[in-house]
Amino acid sequence: MSIDDQTFDPRPQTNGRPQAPNRVRIRTEPLPGAIGAPAATESAAESHVHIAPDAVFEADKVGIFYGRKQALIDVSMRIRRGQVTALIGPSGCGKTTFLRSLNRMNDSIPGFRIDGSINYHGHDIYGSNVDTVEVRRRIGMVFQKPNPFPKSIYDNIAWAPRNLGMRSGLKERVEKALRGAALWDEVKDRLKDSALGLSGGQQQRLCIARAIAIEPDVLLLDEPASALDPIATGAIEDLIHSLKGRFTIVIVTHNMQQAARVADRTAFFSLETRGEKPIGTLIEFDETEKIFGAPRDPRTRDYVMGRFG
Ligand SMILES: Nc1ncnc2c1ncn2[C@@H]1O[C@H](COP(=O)(O)OP(=O)(O)O)[C@@H](O)[C@H]1O
Ligand SMILES: [Mg+2]
Repeated sequence: MSIDDQTFDPRPQTNGRPQAPNRVRIRTEPLPGAIGAPAATESAAESHVHIAPDAVFEADKVGIFYGRKQALIDVSMRIRRGQVTALIGPSGCGKTTFLRSLNRMNDSIPGFRIDGSINYHGHDIYGSNVDTVEVRRRIGMVFQKPNPFPKSIYDNIAWAPRNLGMRSGLKERVEKALRGAALWDEVKDRLKDSALGLSGGQQQRLCIARAIAIEPDVLLLDEPASALDPIATGAIEDLIHSLKGRFTIVIVTHNMQQAARVADRTAFFSLETRGEKPIGTLIEFDETEKIFGAPRDPRTRDYVMGRFG
């Protein structure tokens, strides 16, 4: 990908549906092999975007507040394209908060406020004219607890593409997403059955299939295996490996071994007391091997040794 691969197009779009004026469209080229690989840049020459070529997200001095409570302080990190980045650290240190800030999922929380900036492919994701629907289309999310819709397996996957007007080739799209999520063989003969009849591990892979069906650029996974048994967890980890490179993945996990198995780079967050109050702080962010093998910060060392030992 190069700078020219992005289009920053502030003009209102006229694809048949009413659009908010002055809407920012975020366009990126999909990684090779991404599902559906949408036709990408239409006016690359208009691009005025400056970004490190391999960065998908650049967080700069991010602070996050819920009302008067500060959950995170001074987080700066660059998340690389096509890699798996793990966020680890003790409970309450702001991992979920940070993950959800990457696609503006916190916006609806009363009192939520963010300082600093998060750029996505060079665009300020909190810019006032950014279309949050487009943001969430590009940046998909899978939650800790599988949350299939009370619909058929097929309709779970087809729901978002239908809503986004991606109706042509829908059957193939559903199959491709289910194959991509390593679920096709288990469900291909029961696509009309309710998704609620699937096991927990299958439901979580269904949620991943649902997320990839609309060809996102990024997948955010918040402890996707924490409610699953070891076999289903292994299936999710295998799936993350198979999706790697096609999508940029950011995963929160409290399981050190899991981070070590799946992530290229790992960010360790901790609670640091500033004044009177503990605030989530990014302690160290590096290659996963370094974080677990030769961390620079003694706080990282204590945490990973304690958790691994
Ligand atoms: N919706 C919310 N409203 C108020 N405080 C919140 C909310 N969500 C999280 N917090 C607080 O923010 C801090 C970080 O939480 P969280 O991001 O969930 O941590 P983690 O995922 O690392 O366990 C915690 O102190 C938590 O209580
Ligand atoms: Mg969490």
